[in-house]
Amino acid sequence: MTRLLVTGGAGFIGSNFVHHVLRTTEHSVTVLDKLTYAGNLASLDGLPDDRFTFVRGDITDADVVNRLFEDADAVVHFAAESHNDNSLANPRPFLDTNIVGTYTLLEAARRHGTRYHHISTDEVYGDLELDDPARFTESTPYNPSSPYSSTKAGSDLLVRAWVRSFGVQATISNCSNNYGPYQHVEKFIPRQITNVLRGIRPKLYGAGLNVRDWIHANDHSSAVLRILDRGVIGETYLIGADGERSNKEVVELILTILGQPADAYDHVTDRAGHDLRYAIDSTKLRTELGWEPTYRDFEAGLAATIDWYRSNEPWWAPAKDATEAFYASKGQ
Ligand code: NAD
Ligand code: DAU
Repeated sequence: MTRLLVTGGAGFIGSNFVHHVLRTTEHSVTVLDKLTYAGNLASLDGLPDDRFTFVRGDITDADVVNRLFEDADAVVHFAAESHNDNSLANPRPFLDTNIVGTYTLLEAARRHGTRYHHISTDEVYGDLELDDPARFTESTPYNPSSPYSSTKAGSDLLVRAWVRSFGVQATISNCSNNYGPYQHVEKFIPRQITNVLRGIRPKLYGAGLNVRDWIHANDHSSAVLRILDRGVIGETYLIGADGERSNKEVVELILTILGQPADAYDHVTDRAGHDLRYAIDSTKLRTELGWEPTYRDFEAGLAATIDWYRSNEPWWAPAKDATEAFYASKGQ
């Protein structure tokens, strides 16, 4: 049995990963999470006590990190400040957690010789034009746009340097936009679903023509497990499931699934520096490691996600009012 240390396991993708690992493998999991506004212990309800431990702590705290590395065979690093809009309002926590936090983990991996997998984002590559047939690959140059994506890009470069300079046993993955259960209501899809459930009109930034490449969080989890098992040390793998949709299409789909007129949304102030389009070419992961996504039907995955939010209002309701107040203060 492998002992996994998962940072950020009380967040959206981390909690989906922990459920996936405990459901599909015999590994044990320790989660290290600071429980910021984005962490929610309720996302980890129902896990088997004999294979799951939760530790509240900060990844910038070298003492707690080193103590937990002593008992870990491998580390998967999800913890981050993850929201672009927050990074525009207050960048500092992004530098602390995404840069200093990653540095702290890499130093522990170096000291303990621990296998380390680094979770990152396609946003490190900047954006593509709407009419450009190109997609991001592992050799696309880094060109991040926001404080969030620049700190993620910086963290990726730290990992590459620690592999080359110190022989740290690391891999990196850069994934596209995730959707699924347990995603904070600040993010696009949960915000619009919970708006409609609350009788609030969905809010589309600008014209809504921006394109995101959607993947179900469970497919992200299976890809990460595959890279942990079979990935080549020092390599980067892009994770994506061919899910390009404009924001306008997604909002219209949510409204339609929820039985509302497809045009019952508002256009609001655009995000500063808003990336136009992301698109992932995941050929390397598919051909070299044999990974394939399971959730190929975005409409079906979205409908199941809507059902989850409809059935789990106690999970998301406590964060909803403060989130909407933050957006309202910016005309969004
Ligand atoms: P999230 O904001 O939902 O969760 C982040 C978690 O990290 C929270 O539980 C929070 O409490 C924890 N955390 C924050 N700072 C911490 C610190 N200093 N110490 C310990 N824990 C801390 O984020 P998410 O959307 O689940 O993203 C997880 C990872 O996946 C991030 O690294 C993000 O960059 C990456 N990613 C996200 C997406 C996406 O679509 N959401 C896509 C690609 C990559
Ligand atoms: O591409 C991967 C990235 O996807 C991750 O690295 C980030 O952690 C994750 O937050 C996500 O970033 P985005 O900025 O693409 O996601 P967000 O959900 O904030 O917004 C998705 C799109 O929807 C984006 O074009 C902005 C737009 N949007 C967002 C909100 C919150 C709206 O039109 N209205 C909204 O209310």
